[in-house]
Amino acid sequence: MKISVVGCGYLGAVHAAAMAELGHDVIGIDVDQAKIDALAAGKAPFFEPGLPEILTSASASGRLAFSIDTSAAKDATVHFIAVGTPQKPGSHSADMTYVDAAVDALLPFLKPGDLVVGKSTVPVGTAARLAEKVRTAEPKADLAWNPEFLREGFAVKDTISPDRLVYGVSPDPEAGAAAKAVLDEVYAKALSEDTPLVVTDYATAELVKISANAFLATKISFINAIAEIADVTGANVTELADAIGYDARIGRRFLNAGIGFGGGCLPKDIRAFGARAEELGRGESLAFLKEVDAINLRRRQYVVDLVVDMLGGQAFEKKVAVLGLAFKPDSDDIRDSPALDIAVQLNGLGAVVSATDPHAISNARAKHPQLHYVEDAREAVKDAEIVLLLTEWNEYRELVPADLEGLVAGKKIVDGRNVLTSATWADAGWEYRAMGRP
Ligand code: UDX
Repeated sequence: MKISVVGCGYLGAVHAAAMAELGHDVIGIDVDQAKIDALAAGKAPFFEPGLPEILTSASASGRLAFSIDTSAAKDATVHFIAVGTPQKPGSHSADMTYVDAAVDALLPFLKPGDLVVGKSTVPVGTAARLAEKVRTAEPKADLAWNPEFLREGFAVKDTISPDRLVYGVSPDPEAGAAAKAVLDEVYAKALSEDTPLVVTDYATAELVKISANAFLATKISFINAIAEIADVTGANVTELADAIGYDARIGRRFLNAGIGFGGGCLPKDIRAFGARAEELGRGESLAFLKEVDAINLRRRQYVVDLVVDMLGGQAFEKKVAVLGLAFKPDSDDIRDSPALDIAVQLNGLGAVVSATDPHAISNARAKHPQLHYVEDAREAVKDAEIVLLLTEWNEYRELVPADLEGLVAGKKIVDGRNVLTSATWADAGWEYRAMGRP
Protein backbone atom coordinates (compact mmCIF):
# COMPACT_ATOMS: atom_id res chain seq x y z
CA MET A 1 0.00 0.00 0.00
CA LYS A 2 1.07 3.61 -0.43
CA ILE A 3 1.30 5.12 3.03
CA SER A 4 2.19 8.52 4.47
CA VAL A 5 3.13 8.97 8.12
CA VAL A 6 2.80 12.54 9.39
CA GLY A 7 5.04 13.13 12.42
CA CYS A 8 8.38 11.31 12.71
CA GLY A 9 9.04 11.30 16.46
CA TYR A 10 9.36 8.23 18.70
CA LEU A 11 6.05 6.91 17.36
CA GLY A 12 6.00 8.05 13.72
CA ALA A 13 9.61 7.28 12.75
CA VAL A 14 9.23 3.71 14.01
CA HIS A 15 5.82 3.35 12.38
CA ALA A 16 7.10 4.62 9.02
CA ALA A 17 10.13 2.31 9.03
CA ALA A 18 8.08 -0.67 10.24
CA MET A 19 5.41 -0.16 7.55
CA ALA A 20 8.16 -0.12 4.88
CA GLU A 21 9.69 -3.22 6.46
CA LEU A 22 6.30 -4.89 6.00
CA GLY A 23 6.46 -4.17 2.27
CA HIS A 24 4.46 -0.95 1.98
CA ASP A 25 5.65 2.18 0.14
CA VAL A 26 6.07 4.84 2.80
CA ILE A 27 6.70 8.56 2.90
CA GLY A 28 7.49 9.98 6.37
CA ILE A 29 6.72 13.67 6.89
CA ASP A 30 7.87 15.99 9.65
CA VAL A 31 8.35 19.75 10.04
CA ASP A 32 11.80 19.27 11.61
CA GLN A 33 14.39 19.45 8.82
CA ALA A 34 17.20 18.01 10.98
CA LYS A 35 15.07 14.97 11.84
CA ILE A 36 14.11 14.42 8.21
CA ASP A 37 17.74 14.73 7.10
CA ALA A 38 18.86 12.17 9.67
CA LEU A 39 16.07 9.72 8.78
CA ALA A 40 16.65 10.15 5.04
CA ALA A 41 20.31 9.29 5.65
CA GLY A 42 19.18 6.11 7.41
CA LYS A 43 20.08 7.44 10.87
CA ALA A 44 17.69 7.17 13.80
CA PRO A 45 17.34 10.63 15.40
CA PHE A 46 16.88 8.97 18.83
CA PHE A 47 17.96 5.75 20.52
CA GLU A 48 15.59 2.88 19.85
CA PRO A 49 16.94 -0.67 19.64
CA GLY A 50 16.35 -2.19 16.18
CA LEU A 51 15.34 1.08 14.52
CA PRO A 52 18.68 1.77 12.73
CA GLU A 53 18.56 -1.71 11.20
CA ILE A 54 15.06 -1.38 9.75
CA LEU A 55 15.71 2.21 8.63
CA THR A 56 18.72 1.02 6.67
CA SER A 57 17.02 -1.99 5.13
CA ALA A 58 13.82 -0.09 4.30
CA SER A 59 15.72 2.84 2.74
CA ALA A 60 17.85 0.44 0.70
CA SER A 61 14.70 -1.27 -0.59
CA GLY A 62 13.54 2.08 -1.99
CA ARG A 63 10.25 1.75 -0.09
CA LEU A 64 10.96 4.46 2.50
CA ALA A 65 11.49 8.18 1.92
CA PHE A 66 11.16 11.31 4.06
CA SER A 67 10.11 14.89 3.39
CA ILE A 68 9.29 18.11 5.21
CA ASP A 69 6.63 18.89 2.63
CA THR A 70 3.14 17.49 3.25
CA SER A 71 2.45 17.53 -0.49
CA ALA A 72 4.72 14.45 -0.61
CA ALA A 73 1.69 12.59 0.81
CA LYS A 74 -0.33 13.17 -2.39
CA ASP A 75 0.32 9.74 -3.88
CA ALA A 76 -0.41 7.86 -0.65
CA THR A 77 -3.89 6.46 0.04
CA VAL A 78 -3.46 5.78 3.77
CA HIS A 79 -2.27 8.69 5.92
CA PHE A 80 -1.19 8.00 9.49
CA ILE A 81 -1.23 10.88 11.96
CA ALA A 82 1.55 10.23 14.46
CA VAL A 83 2.33 13.67 15.88
CA GLY A 84 2.64 14.39 19.60
CA THR A 85 -0.08 15.50 22.00
CA PRO A 86 2.01 16.96 24.84
CA GLN A 87 0.61 18.56 27.96
CA LYS A 88 -0.61 22.07 27.20
CA PRO A 89 1.47 24.68 29.07
CA GLY A 90 -0.36 25.92 32.15
CA SER A 91 -3.01 23.21 31.94
CA HIS A 92 -3.52 19.46 32.32
CA SER A 93 -5.20 19.15 28.91
CA ALA A 94 -3.54 17.71 25.82
CA ASP A 95 -2.18 20.23 23.35
CA MET A 96 -3.96 19.40 20.10
CA THR A 97 -2.14 22.00 18.00
CA TYR A 98 0.07 19.44 16.24
CA VAL A 99 -2.72 16.97 15.46
CA ASP A 100 -4.95 19.68 14.01
CA ALA A 101 -2.07 21.19 12.03
CA ALA A 102 -1.14 17.75 10.63
CA VAL A 103 -4.71 17.00 9.51
CA ASP A 104 -5.22 20.51 8.12
CA ALA A 105 -2.00 20.22 6.11
CA LEU A 106 -3.18 16.91 4.63
CA LEU A 107 -6.67 18.07 3.62
CA PRO A 108 -5.71 19.69 0.28
CA PHE A 109 -4.07 16.44 -0.88
CA LEU A 110 -6.85 13.99 -0.04
CA LYS A 111 -8.38 12.01 -2.91
CA PRO A 112 -11.53 9.90 -3.11
CA GLY A 113 -10.92 6.61 -1.28
CA ASP A 114 -8.13 7.95 0.96
CA LEU A 115 -8.14 6.98 4.63
CA VAL A 116 -6.69 9.22 7.34
CA VAL A 117 -5.70 7.08 10.34
CA GLY A 118 -5.11 8.67 13.74
CA LYS A 119 -2.50 7.03 15.95
CA SER A 120 -1.79 9.84 18.42
CA THR A 121 -3.26 9.65 21.93
CA VAL A 122 -6.08 12.19 21.92
CA PRO A 123 -8.98 13.40 24.08
CA VAL A 124 -12.13 11.39 23.40
CA GLY A 125 -14.23 13.18 20.78
CA THR A 126 -11.27 14.16 18.61
CA ALA A 127 -11.76 11.49 15.94
CA ALA A 128 -15.39 12.46 15.30
CA ARG A 129 -14.35 16.11 15.00
CA LEU A 130 -11.48 15.33 12.60
CA ALA A 131 -13.64 12.95 10.53
CA GLU A 132 -15.94 15.90 9.88
CA LYS A 133 -12.99 17.97 8.62
CA VAL A 134 -11.82 15.12 6.36
CA ARG A 135 -15.27 14.55 4.83
CA THR A 136 -15.82 18.28 4.31
CA ALA A 137 -12.54 18.52 2.38
CA GLU A 138 -13.09 15.30 0.40
CA PRO A 139 -16.52 13.66 0.78
CA LYS A 140 -15.16 10.33 -0.48
CA ALA A 141 -12.26 10.20 1.99
CA ASP A 142 -12.67 8.85 5.53
CA LEU A 143 -11.00 8.67 8.92
CA ALA A 144 -10.26 5.82 11.34
CA TRP A 145 -8.68 5.80 14.80
CA ASN A 146 -6.02 3.16 15.32
CA PRO A 147 -4.29 3.77 18.66
CA GLU A 148 -0.68 2.78 19.12
CA PHE A 149 0.45 0.84 22.17
CA LEU A 150 4.18 0.66 21.50
CA ARG A 151 6.62 0.88 24.38
CA GLU A 152 9.88 2.75 23.91
CA GLY A 153 12.74 0.30 23.90
CA PHE A 154 10.48 -2.33 22.24
CA ALA A 155 8.93 -0.03 19.66
CA VAL A 156 9.98 -1.96 16.55
CA LYS A 157 8.74 -5.30 17.86
CA ASP A 158 5.54 -3.74 19.24
CA THR A 159 4.80 -2.16 15.84
CA ILE A 160 5.52 -5.18 13.67
CA SER A 161 3.98 -7.71 16.07
CA PRO A 162 1.53 -5.78 18.27
CA ASP A 163 -0.27 -7.61 21.08
CA ARG A 164 -3.58 -6.30 19.74
CA LEU A 165 -4.99 -4.05 17.02
CA VAL A 166 -7.82 -1.61 17.60
CA TYR A 167 -9.71 0.12 14.79
CA GLY A 168 -12.18 2.86 15.59
CA VAL A 169 -14.25 3.33 12.43
CA SER A 170 -17.01 5.52 11.07
CA PRO A 171 -20.58 4.89 12.32
CA ASP A 172 -21.65 4.61 8.67
CA PRO A 173 -21.61 0.81 8.07
CA GLU A 174 -20.36 1.00 4.48
CA ALA A 175 -17.60 3.52 5.29
CA GLY A 176 -16.70 1.57 8.44
CA ALA A 177 -16.36 -1.68 6.47
CA ALA A 178 -14.22 0.06 3.83
CA ALA A 179 -11.91 1.51 6.50
CA LYS A 180 -11.58 -1.91 8.12
CA ALA A 181 -10.66 -3.48 4.78
CA VAL A 182 -7.91 -0.88 4.24
CA LEU A 183 -6.45 -1.38 7.72
CA ASP A 184 -6.65 -5.18 7.34
CA GLU A 185 -4.43 -4.83 4.29
CA VAL A 186 -1.99 -2.53 6.12
CA TYR A 187 -1.74 -5.01 9.01
CA ALA A 188 -2.06 -8.21 6.94
CA LYS A 189 1.06 -9.76 8.46
CA ALA A 190 0.03 -9.23 12.09
CA LEU A 191 -3.50 -10.42 11.34
CA SER A 192 -2.17 -13.57 9.67
CA GLU A 193 -0.40 -14.30 12.97
CA ASP A 194 -3.72 -14.21 14.85
CA THR A 195 -3.17 -10.82 16.50
CA PRO A 196 -6.40 -10.02 18.36
CA LEU A 197 -8.43 -7.32 16.58
CA VAL A 198 -11.10 -5.10 18.09
CA VAL A 199 -13.19 -3.13 15.59
CA THR A 200 -15.19 -0.46 17.34
CA ASP A 201 -16.42 3.13 17.23
CA TYR A 202 -14.25 6.24 17.42
CA ALA A 203 -14.88 7.04 21.09
CA THR A 204 -14.10 3.52 22.26
CA ALA A 205 -10.88 3.37 20.25
CA GLU A 206 -9.73 6.69 21.70
CA LEU A 207 -10.66 5.60 25.22
CA VAL A 208 -8.97 2.19 24.89
CA LYS A 209 -5.61 3.85 24.53
CA ILE A 210 -5.89 6.36 27.33
CA SER A 211 -7.54 3.81 29.66
CA ALA A 212 -4.69 1.36 29.06
CA ASN A 213 -2.16 4.01 30.04
CA ALA A 214 -4.24 5.12 33.02
CA PHE A 215 -4.45 1.51 34.20
CA LEU A 216 -0.69 0.99 33.89
CA ALA A 217 0.00 4.23 35.76
CA THR A 218 -2.45 3.17 38.47
CA LYS A 219 -0.77 -0.21 38.81
CA ILE A 220 2.64 1.44 39.32
CA SER A 221 1.29 3.99 41.80
CA PHE A 222 -0.56 1.23 43.65
CA ILE A 223 2.66 -0.67 44.31
CA ASN A 224 4.48 2.55 45.16
CA ALA A 225 1.78 3.38 47.73
CA ILE A 226 2.30 -0.07 49.22
CA ALA A 227 6.06 0.65 49.20
CA GLU A 228 5.37 3.66 51.43
CA ILE A 229 3.60 1.35 53.91
CA ALA A 230 6.36 -1.25 53.60
CA ASP A 231 8.92 1.44 54.47
CA VAL A 232 7.34 2.20 57.82
CA THR A 233 6.63 -1.43 58.71
CA GLY A 234 9.84 -3.13 57.61
CA ALA A 235 7.99 -5.20 54.98
CA ASN A 236 9.49 -6.03 51.59
CA VAL A 237 7.45 -4.66 48.67
CA THR A 238 9.28 -6.79 46.08
CA GLU A 239 8.42 -10.05 47.83
CA LEU A 240 4.89 -8.72 48.29
CA ALA A 241 4.62 -7.96 44.56
CA ASP A 242 5.88 -11.48 43.75
CA ALA A 243 3.29 -12.97 46.08
CA ILE A 244 0.29 -10.97 44.84
CA GLY A 245 1.53 -11.30 41.25
CA TYR A 246 1.04 -15.08 41.34
CA ASP A 247 -2.68 -14.34 41.31
CA ALA A 248 -3.38 -14.38 37.57
CA ARG A 249 -6.07 -11.75 38.07
CA ILE A 250 -3.39 -9.36 39.35
CA GLY A 251 -0.26 -10.39 37.41
CA ARG A 252 3.32 -9.50 38.31
CA ARG A 253 4.10 -7.07 35.49
CA PHE A 254 4.14 -3.31 36.18
CA LEU A 255 4.34 -3.96 39.91
CA ASN A 256 7.93 -2.81 40.33
CA ALA A 257 8.10 -0.21 43.07
CA GLY A 258 10.71 2.49 42.66
CA ILE A 259 11.03 6.16 41.82
CA GLY A 260 7.86 6.02 39.73
CA PHE A 261 6.82 6.45 36.14
CA GLY A 262 7.84 9.14 33.67
CA GLY A 263 8.17 9.48 29.92
CA GLY A 264 6.23 11.15 27.18
CA CYS A 265 3.03 9.17 27.76
CA LEU A 266 1.86 8.04 31.20
CA PRO A 267 2.24 11.33 33.13
CA LYS A 268 0.65 13.60 30.53
CA ASP A 269 -1.98 11.02 29.57
CA ILE A 270 -3.42 10.61 33.07
CA ARG A 271 -3.62 14.40 33.39
CA ALA A 272 -5.22 14.86 29.97
CA PHE A 273 -7.70 12.07 30.75
CA GLY A 274 -8.70 13.75 34.01
CA ALA A 275 -9.02 17.13 32.28
CA ARG A 276 -11.21 15.62 29.56
CA ALA A 277 -13.43 13.93 32.16
CA GLU A 278 -13.94 17.31 33.80
CA GLU A 279 -14.90 18.87 30.47
CA LEU A 280 -17.43 16.06 30.07
CA GLY A 281 -18.91 16.79 33.51
CA ARG A 282 -17.54 13.53 34.94
CA GLY A 283 -14.49 14.80 36.80
CA GLU A 284 -15.30 12.62 39.81
CA SER A 285 -15.06 9.45 37.71
CA LEU A 286 -11.33 9.94 37.23
CA ALA A 287 -10.55 11.90 40.39
CA PHE A 288 -8.47 8.91 41.54
CA LEU A 289 -5.96 9.67 38.77
CA LYS A 290 -4.98 12.81 40.70
CA GLU A 291 -3.98 10.51 43.55
CA VAL A 292 -2.10 8.25 41.12
CA ASP A 293 -0.18 11.33 39.93
CA ALA A 294 0.45 12.56 43.48
CA ILE A 295 1.78 9.16 44.66
CA ASN A 296 4.04 9.09 41.62
CA LEU A 297 5.47 12.57 42.18
CA ARG A 298 5.94 11.84 45.91
CA ARG A 299 8.46 9.12 44.98
CA ARG A 300 10.85 11.73 43.64
CA GLN A 301 10.59 13.85 46.78
CA TYR A 302 11.02 10.73 48.90
CA VAL A 303 14.35 9.96 47.24
CA VAL A 304 15.57 13.56 47.53
CA ASP A 305 14.69 13.58 51.26
CA LEU A 306 16.27 10.15 51.75
CA VAL A 307 19.53 11.28 50.11
CA VAL A 308 19.68 14.44 52.23
CA ASP A 309 19.05 12.32 55.31
CA MET A 310 21.76 9.81 54.37
CA LEU A 311 24.17 12.72 53.84
CA GLY A 312 23.60 13.85 57.42
CA GLY A 313 20.81 16.38 56.80
CA GLN A 314 22.62 18.56 54.28
CA ALA A 315 23.26 18.05 50.54
CA PHE A 316 25.18 21.32 50.06
CA GLU A 317 28.57 20.73 48.38
CA LYS A 318 28.19 16.95 48.77
CA LYS A 319 29.23 14.94 45.75
CA VAL A 320 26.35 12.81 44.47
CA ALA A 321 26.71 10.28 41.64
CA VAL A 322 23.61 9.60 39.54
CA LEU A 323 23.50 6.44 37.43
CA GLY A 324 20.72 6.71 34.86
CA LEU A 325 18.90 9.75 33.46
CA ALA A 326 16.47 8.29 30.91
CA PHE A 327 12.89 7.71 32.09
CA LYS A 328 13.52 3.99 31.64
CA PRO A 329 16.25 1.72 30.28
CA ASP A 330 16.76 1.15 26.53
CA SER A 331 15.63 4.68 25.76
CA ASP A 332 17.31 8.09 25.49
CA ASP A 333 14.02 9.80 26.32
CA ILE A 334 14.24 12.16 29.30
CA ARG A 335 10.71 13.58 29.06
CA ASP A 336 9.36 13.78 32.62
CA SER A 337 12.11 11.44 33.75
CA PRO A 338 12.00 10.84 37.51
CA ALA A 339 15.76 10.14 37.47
CA LEU A 340 16.62 13.47 35.89
CA ASP A 341 14.14 15.28 38.12
CA ILE A 342 15.82 13.87 41.24
CA ALA A 343 19.26 14.84 39.92
CA VAL A 344 18.07 18.39 39.21
CA GLN A 345 16.40 18.74 42.62
CA LEU A 346 19.58 17.64 44.41
CA ASN A 347 21.60 20.08 42.31
CA GLY A 348 19.15 22.76 43.41
CA LEU A 349 19.95 21.90 47.03
CA GLY A 350 23.61 22.61 46.36
CA ALA A 351 24.78 19.03 45.82
CA VAL A 352 27.55 18.53 43.26
CA VAL A 353 25.81 16.09 40.94
CA SER A 354 27.83 13.93 38.59
CA ALA A 355 25.44 12.13 36.26
CA THR A 356 25.78 9.44 33.65
CA ASP A 357 23.60 7.37 31.34
CA PRO A 358 24.44 5.05 28.44
CA HIS A 359 22.34 7.02 25.92
CA ALA A 360 20.51 9.98 27.47
CA ILE A 361 23.32 12.40 28.30
CA SER A 362 22.97 14.67 25.29
CA ASN A 363 19.21 15.04 25.77
CA ALA A 364 19.68 15.65 29.50
CA ARG A 365 22.46 18.18 28.93
CA ALA A 366 20.36 20.14 26.43
CA LYS A 367 17.56 20.51 28.99
CA HIS A 368 19.61 20.83 32.19
CA PRO A 369 23.10 22.11 31.39
CA GLN A 370 23.70 22.86 35.08
CA LEU A 371 24.45 19.21 35.90
CA HIS A 372 27.90 17.71 35.44
CA TYR A 373 27.66 14.90 32.87
CA VAL A 374 30.23 12.17 32.36
CA GLU A 375 30.16 9.31 29.87
CA ASP A 376 31.76 6.77 32.12
CA ALA A 377 30.04 5.39 35.22
CA ARG A 378 33.40 4.91 36.95
CA GLU A 379 34.12 8.60 36.40
CA ALA A 380 30.66 9.55 37.72
CA VAL A 381 31.11 7.71 41.02
CA LYS A 382 34.66 9.00 41.60
CA ASP A 383 34.82 10.64 45.06
CA ALA A 384 31.03 10.44 45.41
CA GLU A 385 29.69 10.48 48.94
CA ILE A 386 26.56 8.72 47.75
CA VAL A 387 25.60 6.77 44.61
CA LEU A 388 22.05 6.78 43.25
CA LEU A 389 20.91 4.09 40.81
CA LEU A 390 17.89 5.72 39.15
CA THR A 391 17.40 4.03 35.75
CA GLU A 392 17.85 0.27 35.67
CA TRP A 393 20.05 -0.16 32.59
CA ASN A 394 21.49 -3.67 32.45
CA GLU A 395 25.01 -2.46 33.22
CA TYR A 396 23.78 -0.87 36.47
CA ARG A 397 21.69 -3.89 37.45
CA GLU A 398 24.89 -5.91 37.47
CA LEU A 399 26.78 -3.56 39.79
CA VAL A 400 28.54 -5.12 42.76
CA PRO A 401 30.38 -3.31 45.58
CA ALA A 402 33.79 -4.22 44.15
CA ASP A 403 32.99 -2.13 41.03
CA LEU A 404 32.77 1.03 43.12
CA GLU A 405 35.18 0.49 45.97
CA GLY A 406 38.38 2.47 45.69
CA LEU A 407 36.50 5.07 43.65
CA VAL A 408 33.78 6.40 45.96
CA ALA A 409 34.34 8.60 49.00
CA GLY A 410 31.39 7.16 50.94
CA LYS A 411 29.84 3.69 50.94
CA LYS A 412 26.23 4.80 50.56
CA ILE A 413 23.92 3.69 47.78
CA VAL A 414 20.25 4.31 46.95
CA ASP A 415 18.68 1.68 44.70
CA GLY A 416 15.83 3.67 43.16
CA ARG A 417 14.65 0.72 41.07
CA ASN A 418 14.99 -2.17 43.55
CA VAL A 419 17.32 -4.09 41.26
CA LEU A 420 20.36 -4.76 43.46
CA THR A 421 20.71 -7.46 46.11
CA SER A 422 20.64 -5.74 49.47
CA ALA A 423 22.63 -8.42 51.33
CA THR A 424 25.56 -8.12 48.90
CA TRP A 425 25.91 -4.43 49.65
CA ALA A 426 25.25 -4.67 53.38
CA ASP A 427 27.80 -7.50 53.70
CA ALA A 428 30.39 -5.29 52.00
CA GLY A 429 29.78 -2.56 54.58
CA TRP A 430 27.61 -0.29 52.46
CA GLU A 431 24.63 1.68 53.69
CA TYR A 432 22.14 0.35 51.15
CA ARG A 433 18.65 1.84 50.84
CA ALA A 434 15.93 0.75 48.45
CA MET A 435 12.28 1.61 47.78
CA GLY A 436 9.95 -0.23 50.19
CA ARG A 437 12.55 -2.90 50.91
CA PRO A 438 14.58 -3.22 54.08
C1 UDX B 1 3.79 3.52 27.81
C2 UDX B 1 2.87 2.30 27.59
O1 UDX B 1 3.44 1.15 28.23
C3 UDX B 1 2.68 2.06 26.10
O2 UDX B 1 1.78 0.98 25.90
C4 UDX B 1 2.12 3.34 25.47
O3 UDX B 1 1.99 3.17 24.07
C5 UDX B 1 3.05 4.51 25.74
O4 UDX B 1 3.25 4.64 27.15
P1 UDX B 1 6.43 3.89 27.64
O5 UDX B 1 6.17 5.33 27.94
O6 UDX B 1 7.38 3.53 26.55
O7 UDX B 1 5.06 3.16 27.25
O8 UDX B 1 6.97 3.24 28.99
P2 UDX B 1 6.56 2.06 29.97
O9 UDX B 1 7.33 0.87 29.65
O10 UDX B 1 5.09 1.94 30.09
O11 UDX B 1 7.14 2.65 31.33
C6 UDX B 1 6.61 3.88 31.86
C7 UDX B 1 7.30 4.27 33.14
O12 UDX B 1 6.87 3.43 34.20
C8 UDX B 1 8.82 4.20 33.12
O13 UDX B 1 9.32 5.38 33.76
C9 UDX B 1 9.13 2.98 33.95
O14 UDX B 1 10.38 3.06 34.59
C10 UDX B 1 7.99 2.99 34.96
N1 UDX B 1 7.66 1.68 35.54
C11 UDX B 1 7.23 0.67 34.73
C12 UDX B 1 7.75 1.48 36.91
O15 UDX B 1 8.12 2.38 37.66
N2 UDX B 1 7.40 0.26 37.42
C13 UDX B 1 6.98 -0.76 36.65
O16 UDX B 1 6.68 -1.83 37.20
C14 UDX B 1 6.89 -0.56 35.25
